[in-house]
Amino acid sequence: MDALDLLVRNTSEVLTLEGTHREKAEVALTPRPGACVGVRGGRVAYVGPEKELPAGAVGPSTEVVDAEGGFVGPGFVDPHTHLVFAGERSAEFDLRNQGATYLEIAKAGGGIVSTVRATRAASEDELVRLALPRIHRLLAHGVTVAEVKSGYGLDLENELKMLRVVRRLGALTPMELVPTLLCAHAVPEEYRGRREDYVRLCIDEIIPAVAREGLARFCDVFVEDSAFTVDEGRRILTAARAHGMVPRLHADQLTACGASELAAELGAATADHLEQVTESGLRALAEANVTAVLVPTSTLFLRMRPYAPGRRLRDAGLNIALGSNVNPGSAMSENVALVLGLACLENGLSAAEAYWAATRGAAQSLGLQSHGRLAVGDAGDLVVFGCASYRHLPYHLGVGHARVVVKAGRVVVRQQMNSCA
Ligand code: NIG
Repeated sequence: MDALDLLVRNTSEVLTLEGTHREKAEVALTPRPGACVGVRGGRVAYVGPEKELPAGAVGPSTEVVDAEGGFVGPGFVDPHTHLVFAGERSAEFDLRNQGATYLEIAKAGGGIVSTVRATRAASEDELVRLALPRIHRLLAHGVTVAEVKSGYGLDLENELKMLRVVRRLGALTPMELVPTLLCAHAVPEEYRGRREDYVRLCIDEIIPAVAREGLARFCDVFVEDSAFTVDEGRRILTAARAHGMVPRLHADQLTACGASELAAELGAATADHLEQVTESGLRALAEANVTAVLVPTSTLFLRMRPYAPGRRLRDAGLNIALGSNVNPGSAMSENVALVLGLACLENGLSAAEAYWAATRGAAQSLGLQSHGRLAVGDAGDLVVFGCASYRHLPYHLGVGHARVVVKAGRVVVRQQMNSCA
C-alpha cells in the first residue's frame, strides 16, 4: 500500500455512518471500536484495526495523530447558515428578552431588513472580513462543510455580491461552502406595496443572473405569512429549478402556512425550521422524502414555542438534518454542541439521531454523497473528539469537544482539551 498522508490511531471508536436514516440510529452510526483511520489524496483510504494496516501504509511522510482514546467521526456538515452579513442586532435580542416578538420587531423596521441595510452598505472585502471568524468558530466545532445563504442583499447587485463573497470565502478557508440563493428572504423596503414587482425581479433578473455566474447550487424561499406566500414561493422556486438550482424552503417557522406541503409538491431537498408543521405537512414531507432541517438554536434564541417535533418527524421516517442557522437575528451562535444538546432536550432526538442529523443527514440534504460518512473512498474530513463517545456531545451541554479537525486529509484545527469522559 502507498503511504497514507494521515493516520488517526488510538481511538475509542470510529463512527463511519454507513447505515441509512431508516435504521436504528445507533446501528446507522456504524461504530468501529478501536479502529484507526487513514487518509490518502484527500479521501479515506483505510478504516480498521491498526494491526491489520497493510505494509507500507505508514511512511516518513505520514502525519500520525494520536486520538488519546477519543472517538472519531466525519466532519460536521452545517446545512443552514446565513453567515455572510454586516451589522448586528443585539438591541433586538434585548427587546425580545423584555417581551417583544420577532414579528413586532420586524414590523417596526428591525429584523431582516435592518441587516439588509448594513449588508448593502458593506463592500465585498468587508463582508469577507466579517464572515471569516464565524467560519473559524464553526471549524473549531468540527464543521467541515457549510451551506451559506444570501438573502441580505435583496436586489440584483447585492445578492450577487453576497454569493461572490461566499465563493471567495470558500477559497480562503478550509471550510467547503455550498451556496444558496435566498433572494426571497423578505420583501425589501423599497418594494413595500409592490411585492409582485419584487417577485418578478427575483424570477426575471436575479435567478437568471445567479445561474449565469454559477453562483448557487440551491434556491431557498422564506414561505411565511410575513414573508412570501405559498404561490409566490412556488413561482420563485419553479423558476430557480428551471435554472438548475434545487429548492430548499424556510417552512412553517412562525405559522403553519402550507410551506411543508409546498416543499413536498416541489420535491424540495429540504424543509427547514418546521416549528409549526401540521400533521398533514409532516405526512406530505415524509411521502415526498424531503429532509427536515431542524435549527433549534433559533427556537431558543427567539423565545418561541414549540420546538420542531423532531421525534414525530423521525418516527414518520424522515431524514433529519441539524443546522446552526447562524445569523444576526434568530441564531447568533456557531455552537454546534448546543445544537446537538437542544435537538435532544427539545426536539426529542436521541444522541445517536442527533449525531446522524449533524453529519450524514445534513450531507445528504446537500446532495453530498461522500460527506458525513467515513467509508473508504469518502471525503477525508474528520474530527477527533476529546471524549470517548458521541453521547457526551449533547450531554455536556453547549461545550465543544472537537480536538483535531481534518479537512481533506489535512489537519486544520488542533486545540487543547481535557477528556470529559
Ligand atoms: O432562518 N427566518 C428567516 N431567516 C432566518 C433569520 C434571519 C434574520 O432574522 O436575520 C432564520 O431564522
